[in-house]
Amino acid sequence: MKRLLPTLRADQTSESLISVINTIQIAAKEISFRLHQGALAGVLGSTLDENIQGETQKKLDVVANQLLKTLLLESPNVHAIASEEEDSIVVSPNSGDYLVAFDPLDGSSNIDINGAVGTIFSILRKPGGEASGESMFLQPGKAQVAAGYVVYGPATMMVLTTGKDVRTFTLDQTVGEFLLTREKAEIPDSTKEFAINMSNQRHWGKAISEYIADLLQGEDGPRKKNFNMRWNAAMVADVHRIITRGGLFTYPWDKRNSAKPFKLRLMYEAAPMALLIEKAGGKASDGYQRLLDIVPTDIHQRVGVILGSAEEVEKCVDYHTKHPKPD
Ligand code: F6P
Ligand code: MN
Repeated sequence: MKRLLPTLRADQTSESLISVINTIQIAAKEISFRLHQGALAGVLGSTLDENIQGETQKKLDVVANQLLKTLLLESPNVHAIASEEEDSIVVSPNSGDYLVAFDPLDGSSNIDINGAVGTIFSILRKPGGEASGESMFLQPGKAQVAAGYVVYGPATMMVLTTGKDVRTFTLDQTVGEFLLTREKAEIPDSTKEFAINMSNQRHWGKAISEYIADLLQGEDGPRKKNFNMRWNAAMVADVHRIITRGGLFTYPWDKRNSAKPFKLRLMYEAAPMALLIEKAGGKASDGYQRLLDIVPTDIHQRVGVILGSAEEVEKCVDYHTKHPKPD
């Protein structure tokens, strides 16, 4: 079975990019090991708890961030990182060619219930010329040179694109290597499965309310088919299902909190997932434009997300076209 790095080499991926992906896989293996140790690893619970050595016990999302941050900043090929867990970007003393944005542990509320969680990453080229500081990162998703996620479920899998096919590698726990288990993800165009947090229904805008109401009518409604719903409460796990067998995932605009009308972050959640979904034949939109075309104005910017099987995303976008964008 093919290992991760030789597979990338066979693709003519540059050695500098391979080295960044290698650093991410090293961190991911360590995160995977600690997650699979569960309570034995002493990483569950609050950051305020103390472990038996009397040290401050760290929550796994803090540990995951620290691992990725430390390893990436040591890499000669990384210039700076942006993380969900860091207020600002962190610039490396090394003058590498790449910028890495990541969500170290997506869906972290699943940790305490032994549910699937993940790491999401987006790799950008450091721009030439004037750009410095945070502005270096403010590139549209279509500029990503690579994007991927690691899902820590019953098996640990890395799903990755370097701009070509979307490949799946499964961590062989016996030898500690990610091995190629799916050459090319292909998302079916149509689906009967959707993923949304239905408990927010009363807060939604018109577009998504009408779209979901029509789905729920099943065979008797305008869609003339019965839909099934799935919600993992971890974007990585929901997107992984879609990469595997299709479906539609959305976290739409809602009016629960006017200061935070969107939940998911563009740079290290929506954009990398959008690249994977498009490269696997699906579509990704904020309801009004292609997610990969959005130019970020802030590294922690939030955005509406609709992604998955192409025909279903187009359908959902049709409802948004009928209703103006909410403020
Ligand atoms: O990172 C944000 C996130 O945890 C996603 O992984 C997930 O899709 C979503 O939030 C879950 O939201 P909710 O708590 O509304 O189910
Ligand atoms: Mn997340």
